[in-house]
Amino acid sequence: MAKCPSDNVFYRDLNWHYPKIVRGEGIYLYDEDGKDYIDGCSGSAVANLGHGNKEVAEAMKKQAETIAFTHLSRFTTDAIKNLADKVAALTPGDLNKCYFVSGGSESTETAVKMARAYFLERDGVTSKFKIIARWNSFHGNTIGALSMTGHVARRKKYDPYLADFPHIAAPYCYRCPYDATYPECGVKCAYALEEEILRQGPENVAGFIAEPVIGSAAPGVHPPKEYYSIIREICNRYDVLMIIDEVMAGFGRTGKNFGIDHYEVVPDMLTTAKGMSSGYSPLGATIVKDKIYEVFAKGSGKFIHGHTYGGNPLSCAVGCAVLDIIEKEKLVENASIQGEYLMNKLQKLYDYPYIGDIRGRGLMIGIEFVKDKATKEPFDVKKDVKGLVTRKALDHGLVVYPGGGSVDGVRGDHFLLAPPINITRAEVDELFDRLDKAIKETCEELND
Ligand SMILES: Cc1ncc(COP(=O)(O)O)c(C=O)c1O
Repeated sequence: MAKCPSDNVFYRDLNWHYPKIVRGEGIYLYDEDGKDYIDGCSGSAVANLGHGNKEVAEAMKKQAETIAFTHLSRFTTDAIKNLADKVAALTPGDLNKCYFVSGGSESTETAVKMARAYFLERDGVTSKFKIIARWNSFHGNTIGALSMTGHVARRKKYDPYLADFPHIAAPYCYRCPYDATYPECGVKCAYALEEEILRQGPENVAGFIAEPVIGSAAPGVHPPKEYYSIIREICNRYDVLMIIDEVMAGFGRTGKNFGIDHYEVVPDMLTTAKGMSSGYSPLGATIVKDKIYEVFAKGSGKFIHGHTYGGNPLSCAVGCAVLDIIEKEKLVENASIQGEYLMNKLQKLYDYPYIGDIRGRGLMIGIEFVKDKATKEPFDVKKDVKGLVTRKALDHGLVVYPGGGSVDGVRGDHFLLAPPINITRAEVDELFDRLDKAIKETCEELND
């Protein structure tokens, strides 16, 4: 790959050639040479409405002309209040109170601080502050969020800064951490939470955080049906807050409003971002149960925390427009229908020698490569299979979201498919055709 042309941008990967995108329309991105790409991962499961949406642009313009910014420490606006009402109508149970932020890392870090502050407010308990997380997880790149994140490659260089957040194994059935098979396994991976709480001391544990469907760290992986009710029960028993990270899965991506809705369990907190504004403006929220809010309301009345752009009216107006469109165009149902259709088509990819696992929910699907299907042995990292498939897909005009390290922190190649949730059946066919060509060529090259 050629080095990126010299300009004054400090890109993430200085060895990557960044095509210049000049516009987007629906599921397509267009570069300066007129080449089209299907945005098969909505950036990083963000652009749920696709690109160039005129209704959202109109709402942005209107809000910017009215009032774009007020600081949430002093004022409120209709845009902020309306968005909170719309979100509360979608969330399960009494998860109603929205603490607005600007993105996923802010929303997971807000959950950590709020959990700690909740126990302090409720009964002055100072010891209850630990948050248990899982391996094969991603909760963000800021130091607190990265401390929770269970992804070795993303943590490694910054290890000296990371705080001690305990981790348990993820419910990764294809590579069961207990070398067992469902249902005979007895869902040991859920009961591991109880063991860890006891190890840490329940008096020290404030929360447990997990992605309902895993995103970038092991895309599409999701637990058996009883997993989250077991987790809920354990959290109740030890007075531990159940925090579900819906940054990627939330707002329709998995074919339900929230990923946790597949499990009919009501957590104590949801962390959200990405699809909430569909990428039209940075936006996120930590959404909590009324009972948590009431503890603050009856206590000091203060949550000492906040970010400058949290709850800015412009992003909130975008959020309102996005949620209205999702409802009006029945896009949650569409994600479920097209997700099932895509998943059925993807089964054909198992004919290729190196496709080990295809899993997911709705339009949040992960595909994992293996060197050997029988042993599930991953490829040597030097082969850079994830890079290879990404380049092949781009050659064929398809953007996928690659990742690695799901097997042992280093090895394991996979990618996430998460196209806009308003994708049509014909567009799914086109996406699949491009993907099929990319996988075919990837496998051929790996054979050489
Ligand atoms: C599940 C999950 N949580 C948190 C984050 C962090 O979000 P952000 O990059 O907006 O800080 C991400 C980002 O990919 C995510 O997938």
